[in-house]
Order: sequence, then structure tokens, then C-alpha cells
Amino acid sequence: MFDLWWRRGVIYQIYPRSFQDSNDDGVGDLDGIRCRLDYLHWLGVDAIWISPIYPSPMADFGYDVADYCGVAPIFGTLPQFDALIEEAHGLGLKVILDFVPNHTSDQHPWFVESRSSRSAGKRDWYIWRDPRPDGSPPNNWVSNFGGSAWTFDAPTQQYYYHAFLEQQPDLNWRNRDVREAMYAALRFWLDRGVDGFRVDVMWHLIKDAQFRDNPPNPAYQEGRPEIERFLQLYSADQPEVHDVVEEMRGVLDRYPERVLIGEIYLPLERLMAYYGKDSSGAHLPFNFQLIFASWSARTLTTMIRDYEAALPEGGWPNWVLGNHDQHRLASRIGLEQARVAAMLLLTLRGTPTIYYGDEIGMTDVAIPPEAAQDPWELREPGLGLGRDPERAPMQWDDGPGAGFTRGRPWLPLAATYRECNVARMKADANSLLRLYRDLIRLRRQRSALSLGGFRLLGEFPDLLAYERFDSKERLQVFLNFSAAENAIVVEKDLIGGKLLVSTAGDRNAGLADRIKEGLLALRGGEGVVIAPS
Ligand code: GLC
Repeated sequence: MFDLWWRRGVIYQIYPRSFQDSNDDGVGDLDGIRCRLDYLHWLGVDAIWISPIYPSPMADFGYDVADYCGVAPIFGTLPQFDALIEEAHGLGLKVILDFVPNHTSDQHPWFVESRSSRSAGKRDWYIWRDPRPDGSPPNNWVSNFGGSAWTFDAPTQQYYYHAFLEQQPDLNWRNRDVREAMYAALRFWLDRGVDGFRVDVMWHLIKDAQFRDNPPNPAYQEGRPEIERFLQLYSADQPEVHDVVEEMRGVLDRYPERVLIGEIYLPLERLMAYYGKDSSGAHLPFNFQLIFASWSARTLTTMIRDYEAALPEGGWPNWVLGNHDQHRLASRIGLEQARVAAMLLLTLRGTPTIYYGDEIGMTDVAIPPEAAQDPWELREPGLGLGRDPERAPMQWDDGPGAGFTRGRPWLPLAATYRECNVARMKADANSLLRLYRDLIRLRRQRSALSLGGFRLLGEFPDLLAYERFDSKERLQVFLNFSAAENAIVVEKDLIGGKLLVSTAGDRNAGLADRIKEGLLALRGGEGVVIAPS
């Protein structure tokens, strides 16, 4: 079936610590999310993906899981989770969980057992290696958060591998028992009604069987993260990873309409491999190109064309503008272009993912060094790598705590929250928030936008122009990347057409006074969706 919810729909990412606090401890929780479902319903999204909620010592804020089948007390309880799912489903919202299979917490009972002795039953569940003859780590692999990726365990005289923190030992996915235990965890949540998973660092799961040294990166520059010193040739993206992804997919396929999303930071051709042979892999290998591309019409035109061309047969596209690991969209490209970006995200072909708060134009929140919490910032300080700025609390209203908490928020609130908040922007028909809502609604109403084809209308300086079409209709989108006015030659039948949405506020307007001598006029930083007559 083609018309599946995860193809048609819009995904909204919730970072649970920062969405809504319901018990005044300054940290968001499940009951908080449940109370805000009416907002998400109003916004019109189809699914929420919630970053990890499992029991965890929180060394990496939940990406260090100590129990795959539970809920961290700071977020709530399993019954509260069940209540959240039930209410979400009642509103027609799907619920996607974060699944973190590459590593556990060092407090997970599996690791506690694994490190207890060399002959422990679960020794092989993690990656243990002898030191080199001089006592140094087994190879040159670097942790993604800086420093060696190997930690020496004195009692058992071996090193264990961790692609991230030493509190996040990597599981050994070559071990069959590990796989079965993790698939059981997936089924635990699927049986509770979870609609899919976003799989954390999917491309990391299998490492080189011989643990060869990574080659140095000739393009490395000082001031860049340490992980970039080497090309990650042997530590990730090994061919056997696709067998694992296919098995995960097999687990999900026993249930109807579940979605498998992969977090994968790789160049295009390697990313495409994660769709799997004959579409047997991830449904949506996350496409992060919009986050890293320089924000110009030329770059984006090429990028979109190349992405569309690289998709394997049957592979459904997807687009992401932000997440909890990347600087905020509005800080990267400015508030004016954030409107263009919203229109782009919601009119391109493929499933869009919105990061909470981007719909109100939240910007990075400056975090003084003494307030830094993110382990990456603490380990490689001052390089701008810290992820706290994009994880600040959601701005609901102009009251104390921004409506997020009545306690002390775990990260500082944005200084601008009194102006930039949901309550205020909901009431302003011209706000970014209302633009998101209108675009999401339009996408739902028009199958050409949600499921239709895609065609670039050419290549223009400062302008991106494309058409979306299906058997019923075609729509055209024009996006002005410049702050100056712009104009573009358009087809004759556009004159009698209708402007459905403009980023500048116009809705359902005629086009007669916009088109002069075959030229469609666009304001600075304006994007429009048009239905030809
Ligand atoms: C993913 C997560 C990130 C986390 C890392 C380790 O990249 O998105 O937040 O730190 O994996 O689990």
C-alpha cells in the first residue's frame, strides 16, 4: 500500500526533558507531553517521535540506557506511558520511540555482568580487546565525544570499546544473543502499541571484524571535533550492518504499518544503502542534508536533484531541518529564511520531520560555560560543539517558566520567550507558527503535496522553483532565498491561478496583480505555493 501514514504524514520530534514539565521539577515528562497533545493535534502533525525515556543514569541524557523495557522515574511510569499512547491514538497521532541499540549504559545489568570477569556469561555481549603489547588501546579509534574510544578495565585487564562516552559501552551486535535480546525489547514496545522507532546511530552497529586502525583524515583542521582526525572507515558503516537492519525491519513487519527510521550521518550513496536490498531495510534513513547545506538556492537545487536521483526504486524520501544534536534552524539561517525553510520542508517530496520549537522560531540559547550540561561540551569545551543551546525548554507562554515549568528549568529559558511563544503566535495570523499550521493543513488536503511527484522547474539565482503533481492536480512552489525582491517567468495559466499560501501572510489570493508581463513578483524572503488555473 502506497498511502501509508509515515509517507503521507508529518513527524514532530519531542525532546522530553524540554517539552512540558508536569511535576515542577524543572524537567519535562510524559504527563507533560500528554497535556500538550491538543497543541500537536491543533498544529496538525501526524506522529511524535520522543527522544529516549528509558531508565538511565543520564550521562548522555537518556542515550545511555540502563533498561530497554522501562520508563525513567524522572519522565514518569509505564502506566503513564500507556496513557500517553492511548490519548495520542485517540487524537489520531502516532507515537515513535527512540531505540538506542548501539550501546547501553555502563549501569545496565548486562554490562555489569559482562565486566565482572573474563568468563562471565555476557562477556561477549560487549566489545572487549586485549591491550597492545605496550599496554596502549587496541587501535586508534576515537570517541565521538573526544578521547580514545577504549577504556581499560583494570580488574579484567582488557579494554572495552565505546563510540561515545565511557559510560556508554558498545554492544557486540555480532553476538546472536544480543540481537535476540534487543529484538525482544522492540517487541515489548510494539506490543504496547508503539508505531515505530527512530534507531540511534544505526550506521554504527557493526565494526570491522579485524578492528583495523582508521586512516588519518587529510582534511582535518584544528578546532574541529577530535573524531574528525580520522576517517571512520573501519569503526562504522560495515557491510554486515545491513543484515542487522533487515532483521530489525523483520521484527517490525510482524505488526501492521510500523515505521523504521534510521539516524545515519553518511554521504548520499552510502546513506541510500540503508533502504536495504529490495527495500528490506529502513523505511526512512534520515536525510540530514538540509541541516548542513549552505543556505542558497543554487546549493539546494543541486542537493535536491541529486537526492531525488540517488533514491533506490521504492525508496521514499524524507527531509529534516533540525534535531537535538544540531544548532537551531533559526540561528543557522535567520528568522526570515526560517519561513522559507518551513515552506520547503513541508512542500518537498518526502516525509518531513519538525524539531520541537522550530515552528515558533526558537533560537539557540546561550549557555554560560558553568551551566553547560551536555557531555560533548564538557569534554571538548569552547568549540561550539555543545548541544545544550538547541535543547532549551519549549516556550509556551509569557508567564514565569514560559509555561514549561513552575520550577527551575533544567536549562535556561530563551531571553526572548515573552515575545516568542506558542500562546502569542497562535493568536497572530501572520506568525511563523500559523504558517507551519497552514502548510501542514495544505499538505494534508492536497495529495499532490503529500504523495505526488516532484519536478524542478529550472535553476535560478536566489530562487528555488518546483512543481508537485499527481493525477488530480499540480501545484507550483517558488522560494526566494534573497532578502531583495525577485521575479520569475511563469507559465501563462498561472495568471488565472490561485496563491494558496505565502510566507508573507497572503492566503487564497488571486494572482492577477502579482504577475506582470509573464513575471511573478516575489517579496524579499518570500515563498509561495500556487495552484495554476
Ligand atoms: C545520537 C543521538 C545523540 C547521542 C548519540 C549517542 O547521535 O542523537 O544525542 O548523543 O547518538 O547515543
